[in-house]
Amino acid sequence: MAKVGIFFGSDTGKTRKVAKQIHEALGSDAVAAPVNINKASIDDLLACDALILGTPTLGTGQLPGLDADCQAESWGEFVPELESADLSGKTVALFGLGDQQSYPDDFVSAMGELYDLVSAAGAEVVGFCSSAGYEFNDSAALDGDDFVGLALDQDNQADQTAERIKSWVASIKPALGL
Ligand SMILES: Cc1cc2nc3c(=O)[nH]c(=O)nc-3n(C[C@H](O)[C@H](O)[C@H](O)COP(=O)(O)O)c2cc1C
Repeated sequence: MAKVGIFFGSDTGKTRKVAKQIHEALGSDAVAAPVNINKASIDDLLACDALILGTPTLGTGQLPGLDADCQAESWGEFVPELESADLSGKTVALFGLGDQQSYPDDFVSAMGELYDLVSAAGAEVVGFCSSAGYEFNDSAALDGDDFVGLALDQDNQADQTAERIKSWVASIKPALGL
């Protein structure tokens, strides 16, 4: 069975909580508990066959750590590591948290930044999701009408999160080798 790692960045803890929910939904011994990216090295990522990477969007559509508001070290500090990594042969699934009501022009845009980074590093990204059911103007995480991963909004649609995770996890499991 493939070794799958879950890595997340988080400022106020919502993405950490969602990472735990995704881990539980996967229900597999092959997947270790989620790790905050500020405690991970690039070798931790490279040791996995497949990766699930999650991020909130902060600033104006930015990865946490690239904006002034984020208190913790996070994806922003990890960008250079990703830029020089070779992720070819790895399967990656992305999830992103955002607030479509307060930030309708940049909803979950940081997930798009992660997508660009891991794609440029050679990874195959799976787990695109329809953008139907969300209300926003624009997002850097769109590929046509689909998000490049699972978009979640704990600020406005928390009641839909469990169901969204359940169907997304079911859709990505085969691609992750689980
Ligand atoms: C200062 C600040 C800036 C934000 N900017 C965006 C944004 O540009 N786009 C978006 O979709 N959400 C934005 N958000 C909402 C967060 O992404 C959302 O609340 C997320 O769930 C936070 O996750 P965390 O608790 O893991 O940090 C912003 C939140 C804050 C506090």
